[in-house]
Amino acid sequence: MSCRIAPSILSADFGHLADDVARLEAGGADWIHVDVMDGRFVPNLSFGAKVIETVKKLTKLPLDVHLMVVEPEGYFDSFAKAGANNLTIHAEVAPHLHRQLARIRELGCGAGVALNPSTPVETVREVAAELDILLIMTVNPGFGGQSFIATSPDKVRRARALLTETRSRAALEVDGGINRETIAQVWRAGADTFVAGNAVFAAADPRAEIGALRALCTERA
Ligand code: DX5
Ligand code: ZN
Repeated sequence: MSCRIAPSILSADFGHLADDVARLEAGGADWIHVDVMDGRFVPNLSFGAKVIETVKKLTKLPLDVHLMVVEPEGYFDSFAKAGANNLTIHAEVAPHLHRQLARIRELGCGAGVALNPSTPVETVREVAAELDILLIMTVNPGFGGQSFIATSPDKVRRARALLTETRSRAALEVDGGINRETIAQVWRAGADTFVAGNAVFAAADPRAEIGALRALCTERA
């Protein structure tokens, strides 16, 4: 299994978004991660359909849209139309996960569920087979540049076991505090897709940083 690097444009310079996105593409990014925050599910605001549409015009890479919003179903149609390739919603605000995931797929997008650090992996057992992505938050969502929660590799291991048991082919994505110091631990625990915001954009050379992170995903324990 090879790894996928999904830089988050939350840490991009929005005055030079086109340059930043071009840099990610040149550096070999696999997906572009787009963090949507509503100031309700998380204590921060970011962006919505207009930015998704703008980024879509800047790149051919898949847009991996992470909805940190309450009542996410209200955004499915407009985000899909704007060019989202994956829509990942939080289990904590999605009581009808089965129906919501089906709707995302109907719109032609990959369907993902994200779990906050305090939400057990068991929450998704019944829908595991319907998942294209299981996203394990390795920080509390809301801000870029936070520290990786040290117990995350254990949770990722349990998430990988659940996907194996349920024969799910979902990608296992991690998000928050992923950098050169932390990526290998979650890779060895079974993650295959890595969101990185601060690590990529604070690097002297964001293009090279993507390669450096990828190079650390070498051998599984
Ligand atoms: C956190 C977001 C992340 C964030 C990651 O709320 O979901 O995608 O941008 O940023 P870093 O890599 O800086 O922790
Ligand atoms: Zn995210």
